[in-house]
Order: sequence, then C-alpha cells, then structure tokens
Amino acid sequence: MKKVLILLNVLLIASSATLSAQSDSAKKAEALVIYMEVNDYVVENEACLRCHGESKYILKDESMEREITQSMCRDKIIERDDYYSMVHKSFACLDCHSYDYEVFPHAYELRLEPTFTCLDCHGYDEDYAQYHFEDIEVEFQESIHMSANPDNFTCWKCHDPHSYRTFVRDDEKSVTEAIAYNNDICLSCHSDFSRFELLTDKDEIDLLDTHSWLPNQAAHFRSVRCIECHTSLSDSVLVAHHVQTKDLAVRNCIECHSSSSILMGSLYKHQAIESRGKLGFVNAVILNEAYVIGANRNKVLSFAGVMIFLLTLGGISVHIVARIIFKK
Ligand code: HEC
Ligand code: HEC
Ligand code: HEC
Ligand code: HEC
Ligand code: HEC
Ligand code: HEC
Ligand code: HEC
Repeated sequence: MKKVLILLNVLLIASSATLSAQSDSAKKAEALVIYMEVNDYVVENEACLRCHGESKYILKDESMEREITQSMCRDKIIERDDYYSMVHKSFACLDCHSYDYEVFPHAYELRLEPTFTCLDCHGYDEDYAQYHFEDIEVEFQESIHMSANPDNFTCWKCHDPHSYRTFVRDDEKSVTEAIAYNNDICLSCHSDFSRFELLTDKDEIDLLDTHSWLPNQAAHFRSVRCIECHTSLSDSVLVAHHVQTKDLAVRNCIECHSSSSILMGSLYKHQAIESRGKLGFVNAVILNEAYVIGANRNKVLSFAGVMIFLLTLGGISVHIVARIIFKK
C-alpha cells in the first residue's frame, strides 16, 4: 500500500497542472495498481518505462530550467499490458538488464553485453521439465536460422523478452488464436524486412509469391502454422523448433489431407494428449476443432453417417407404405 501512495504522488507531481493531464495520470496510476497484483517491482520498472513505455520522453536540464521532448524509437517501446501478462510478468527490468542502465545516456559497452539465455535459467530444472528446454536447444542449434547466423540468432528473436506468452498450452485460447500467435512470430521477420535484414544479407522474400503453389493461401495460413510445413516433428517437444531449409518443407497435400494427417502429431498434439484421458482419442479429435477435409476417416463418423442414411431410408419407406394404405 505504501508503494501505491508513493506512486500516486510521483505521478501527480509529475503531471502538469492541466485537468486533462491529471485525469490521464490518474488512469495510468489505476492501471499500475492492477499490475501490482502480478509484479512487486512496478514502481522500480516505471523508472525505465517512463521512457520505454511511451512514444516520447522528456529530457530535463535542471540548472538551465530547460526541457525538451524526444521520440522513443519504435523498436525500443515496451507495452505495459503485454509486459505484465507475459510468462515473465513478475520480473523487474533489472533482473535481466544491467543496473548500469539506470544511467542515461546508456553506456556504449552495455549494448554489446551478452544477455541471459533461456537455458541459463531453465536448463536442467525439474520444475520446467515438461517444456523440454534442453531438447528445444538441440533442435534450435540444428535449425536453418542458427546455421545462417550463429552469432546473432537467439531464442529471444522469436520469444520477445517483453511479451512472450504460451498460447499452445493456454486452454482459454482456441486453436485459431494459437495459430495466429505462432504465425505472427514468424511474420515478425518474414513480413518485416527491417527486422529480417538485421540477420542476413539476403534480399527480401515475398511469402505470397513463394507459396503461390498453395491454393487459398489465406485459408491455409489461418488454419495451419508455418512450423507445420517447415519443421520436422519430434516426440518429446510440443512445439517443433527444427526449422529446415525450404527444399525439405512440406508441399504434398496428402500429408495433411489424409487420415494419417501430420497435423494430428503437431497442431493438435496438445489437445490430443490433454483430452485422450477424458474422452478417448477418437472423440478428442472429432469433438475438437480438428476437422480437416480428408483427415477424419474414422469408425464413429462413418457409423453415424450410415445410421443417418438408414434412418432416412426407413422414414421414406414408412411414408410410402402409409400413403398406399391410406389412399385406399
Ligand atoms: C530518459 C529516458 C530513458 C530511461 C529513463 C531509460 N532509457 Fe533505456 N533507452 C533510452 C533511449 C532513448 C534508448 C535508445 C537510444 C540508445 O540506445 O541510447 C534506450 C535504449 C535502451 C536499451 C537498448 C540498448 C541497445 O542495445 O541499443 C536498453 C536495453 C535499455 N534502454 C534499457 C533500459 C533500462 C533497463 C532502463 C531502466 C533502468 C532504461 N533503459 C531507462 C531512453 C531511456
Ligand atoms: C526476461 C528477461 C528480460 C526482462 C524482464 C526485461 N528484458 Fe529487456 N531485453 C531482454 C533481452 C534478452 C533483450 C535483447 C533482445 C534481443 O536480443 O533481441 C532485451 C532488449 C531490451 C531493449 C532493446 C530492444 C531492442 O530491440 O533494441 C530494451 C529497450 C529493453 N530490453 C528494456 C527493458 C525494460 C524497460 C524492461 C522492464 C520493463 C525489460 N527490458 C525487461 C530481456 C529482458
Ligand atoms: C533470468 C532467468 C530467466 C530467463 C533468462 C528466462 N526465464 Fe523463463 N522463467 C523464469 C522464471 C523465474 C519463471 C517463473 C516466473 C513466475 O512463475 O512468475 C519463468 C517462467 C517461464 C515460463 C512459464 C513456465 C510456467 O510453467 O509457468 C516459460 C514458458 C518460460 N519461462 C520460457 C522461457 C523462454 C522461452 C526463455 C528464453 C527465450 C526464458 N524463459 C528465459 C526465469 C527465466
Ligand atoms: C524461429 C522462431 C523460434 C525460435 C528461434 C525459438 N522458438 Fe521457442 N517457440 C516458437 C514458437 C512459435 C512457439 C509456440 C508459441 C506458442 O504458441 O505457445 C515456441 C514455444 C516454445 C516453448 C514452449 C513450448 C511448450 O511446450 O509450450 C519453449 C519452452 C520454447 N519455445 C523455448 C525455446 C528455446 C529454449 C529456444 C532457443 C534455444 C527457442 N524456443 C527458440 C518459436 C521459436
Ligand atoms: C503448406 C505448407 C507450408 C506452409 C503452411 C508454409 N510454408 Fe513456407 N514454404 C513451403 C514450401 C513447400 C516452400 C518451398 C517453396 C519453393 O521452394 O518454391 C516454402 C518456402 C518458404 C520460405 C523460403 C522462400 C525462399 O524463396 O527462400 C520461407 C522463408 C517460408 N516458406 C516461410 C514461411 C512462413 C513464415 C510461413 C507461415 C506464415 C510459411 N512459410 C508457411 C511450405 C509451407
Ligand atoms: C528474427 C527474425 C526471424 C524470425 C522470427 C523467423 N525467421 Fe525465418 N529466417 C530469418 C532469416 C534472416 C532467414 C535467412 C537466413 C539466411 O541467411 O539464409 C530466414 C530463413 C528462413 C527460411 C528459409 C530457409 C531457406 O532454405 O532459405 C525458412 C523456411 C524460415 N526462415 C522459416 C521460419 C519460420 C517457420 C519461422 C517461425 C517459426 C521463422 N522463420 C521466424 C529470420 C527470421
Ligand atoms: C500443413 C497441412 C496442409 C497442407 C500441406 C495442405 N493443406 Fe489444405 N488445408 C489444411 C487445413 C488445416 C485446412 C482447413 C480446413 C478447414 O478449416 O476447413 C485446409 C483447407 C484446404 C482447402 C479448403 C480451403 C477453403 O477454402 O476452405 C483446400 C481446397 C485445400 N486445403 C487444398 C490443399 C491442396 C491442393 C494442398 C497441396 C497443394 C494442400 N491443401 C496442402 C491443411 C493443409
């Protein structure tokens, strides 16, 4: 509670005397109080977010009584809502960043300082065994991204340090949402050349063009993830990380549009594992969103189909017989 009061004071003093600014900062303070439910360092983080959480920041020179407003570079802005709902929502900025960042302008050497890797904290830790971090690390080491740029491609390039969430395991998220979230990760470079070019000398790749062989691209990109076609499957890892070269990508329609669809082992893997216990595998796959043309050839559906056909036939015969009898 003490923290809340300090915070409100800081914000009220900081805001200028106009009414609208006051109500804005009151709104902001309300939001911050909510974040405090998940994070003990909200006040400390504001020391960074007063610049990094805004599109502009103020530089002051007390002795000259002068202040100017500058714009924050877009790729260095952190959205508070994203930050306080991600997997590391309980963190202080300084858990991952050097204390020297408290000084502005930030020192040159700081920028070249290596960051923690996921395995520094999660490797060989029983609490996170279900995620198979070590297997993912191996898959990543063998991926095309790592071999193309081993010095600069890291886990963080896909797992945004300030917004990463786990969608595939979130039962409140539908498969469609998980697909969109996943694909957005790939598209953050593959449809944004300004990020792509930082890691390669290659020219821009036009995804629509290279996937023009795929009918109804929009529908496919909504219904499957990029990794379905671009990674090899593995048993232990829920989300395959072994992104391969393009000549190994899935192009064959039958791989998905058949009763042994690869999607059952990848996209619907989580649901299949979760609901196998509750419903039995066949039901799990039918009752969920997993209906792919050609992929669902199973006894229950076929039996239901035959029964409907027989019942209809029965209904028609009863009708005909009844008409013959009552005509007389
Ligand atoms: C007065 C505004 C301001 C404050 C306060 C501030 N920063 Fe920054 N920070 C910037 C600006 C502007 C940049 C981009 C220009 C630059 O790199 O100097 C930046 C860049 C960064 C970078 C990227 C450096 C790189 O690799 O290019 C990191 C990381 C960072 N800040 C972390 C922090 C942390 C952590 C805090 C809080 C302890 C903090 N900053 C406080 C303004 C600020
Ligand atoms: C879980 C660890 C972690 C936490 C917590 C964290 N960061 Fe970062 N941050 C990183 C890593 C790792 C990078 C480098 C990302 C990369 O290499 O692409 C980074 C990069 C940055 C950058 C530079 C972004 C860019 O793309 O140039 C800024 C600015 C920044 N962090 C500020 C902050 C602030 C402010 C906070 C607190 C609100 C914070 N970070 C909390 C791990 C973290
Ligand atoms: C500085 C140490 C640190 C680093 C680096 C780090 N994590 Fe974490 N991570 C944690 C801690 C601690 C938690 C538990 C947070 C909590 O419960 O509030 C966590 C939680 C998670 C969770 C949620 C686990 C669960 O069961 O709730 C996932 C997933 C995760 N991290 C993935 C990653 C990935 C991927 C990376 C690298 C891109 C990474 N982490 C880097 C320390 C770290
Ligand atoms: C090319 C992009 C990419 C890179 C690089 C990457 N990941 Fe991932 N990772 C993903 C995507 C996409 C997901 C699925 C996110 C979701 O929907 O939950 C994921 C999920 C995960 C998960 C959660 C899996 C689960 O069982 O829920 C962990 C843990 C993880 N990654 C760790 C890592 C580690 C460790 C590295 C580096 C060694 C890494 N990732 C590098 C794209 C990437
Ligand atoms: C249905 C399977 C499938 C899906 C889904 C898919 N791809 Fe592809 N992708 C391929 C195939 C096959 C190729 C090889 C095309 C060729 O060589 O002509 C390819 C090529 C590529 C290339 C290399 C292009 C080049 O010319 O170098 C990239 C990058 C790529 N895909 C990224 C993605 C991303 C990002 C997504 C998700 C938005 C995605 N793909 C979704 C099958 C797929
Ligand atoms: C941080 C940026 C970034 C992200 C995120 C990213 N990629 Fe890439 N990707 C690259 C770069 C850079 C290359 C070109 C590497 C090179 O120089 O050959 C590449 C190349 C590729 C290729 C082409 C391989 C070939 O044969 O030329 C495929 C396929 C691919 N990525 C798929 C994916 C998928 C799937 C995802 C999401 C899981 C993803 N990428 C996420 C940057 C990214
Ligand atoms: C990675 C798996 C995968 C591959 C490979 C794949 N598809 Fe699909 N396809 C799907 C999924 C999932 C749907 C969506 C089913 C739905 O929601 O109705 C779909 C939908 C379709 C549709 C219906 C689109 C619509 O308008 O609703 C057609 C037609 C189709 N695919 C043809 C093909 C052809 C032809 C190929 C080979 C060139 C192919 N698919 C390759 C998974 C795949």
